Amino acid sequence: MSGILDIDHLTVTLAGEDRPKPVLSDVSMSIAEGEAVGLVGESGSGKSMTVRSIIRLLPPGARMEGNIRVRGVDLGTLRGAALRKMRAEMPVIFQDPRAHINPVRSVGDFLTEALRIHRRMSRAAAEDRAADVLDEVGVSEARRRLRQYPHELSGGLLQRVMIASALLAEPRLLLADEPTTALDVTTQAEVMAVMDELRRERGLAMLFITHDLELAAAICDRTAVMYAGRVMEVRASASLLERPLHPYTAALATARPSIERKVDRLTTIPGRPLSAFEAPDGCAFNTRCAHVRESCREQRPELRTLLDGQVACVRVEELQAVSHD
Ligand SMILES: Nc1ncnc2c1ncn2[C@@H]1O[C@H](COP(=O)(O)OP(=O)(O)O)[C@@H](O)[C@H]1O
Ligand SMILES: [Mg+2]
Repeated sequence: MSGILDIDHLTVTLAGEDRPKPVLSDVSMSIAEGEAVGLVGESGSGKSMTVRSIIRLLPPGARMEGNIRVRGVDLGTLRGAALRKMRAEMPVIFQDPRAHINPVRSVGDFLTEALRIHRRMSRAAAEDRAADVLDEVGVSEARRRLRQYPHELSGGLLQRVMIASALLAEPRLLLADEPTTALDVTTQAEVMAVMDELRRERGLAMLFITHDLELAAAICDRTAVMYAGRVMEVRASASLLERPLHPYTAALATARPSIERKVDRLTTIPGRPLSAFEAPDGCAFNTRCAHVRESCREQRPELRTLLDGQVACVRVEELQAVSHD
């Protein structure tokens, strides 16, 4: 079955200083029309590289194996104008909006450029449209904002401008790479709520990247957990959070700070997260897993279908039987 996005056996290797550096290893996942999928994992696990592979903006010298299809079209076959058009249909909202907006151009120019050039709208019509969408994403005094410059806006407002810009492209798929991580907690919640609401209203599919398992679960239909450039588990969000199958997911779920839990009981996963190029033989998580056995060091576990999703752990049935006695 083909969804809006299908990633099949994606392996990405960067040109390292002395040898090639794998950053994604055999990643497969898909997103259905209108579905929101969370991509969660610690820093360095390959979340951003996944997005950069989708929009084909990998560092120079990167090698990509496997394929990525958008509505059945293999992105690897697209060049030039066709690739630019496809990119425009799946805008990315990045963590740091300031790094992705031209500081010397007004918000209005930024928001109306594509409408004027690609849709041949008049300046006045494009500004009307931009002001309407700014209003929708909760930016007050939209008309005045169009005359302002990025440095005059707070991080939260600027991220709303980025969301407005993404929506103006009338996409079918939104890519969001930690869109609220750089914002303070209150602003984070507001921006998240706006994005979530507008996405649902429009029936947009979304790949939502975060290191916060709970946040992903709250706004996404399914959540994929990534470690060392691999997908460890992907399942319906609610059950993944309630009953994680992979020991890594379980560790992430326990490590998350919670208001119900006392701070001194906050546990962290022992050791530091590994990137794909540091992964040991067998299961990538075997250096940190509390349930490691010899078999975990021998063979890389396949993603297997289980319950409402897939999980890559050879011991999962055994461990579930124990924890549910
Ligand atoms: N431009 C780059 N050049 C070399 N290595 C990179 C570059 N960007 C990211 N990496 C490496 O790729 C791996 C995955 O990174 P990334 O996808 O950014 O992780 P995440 O977004 O999950 O934190 C990391 O080991 C990181 O150090
Ligand atoms: Mg990242």
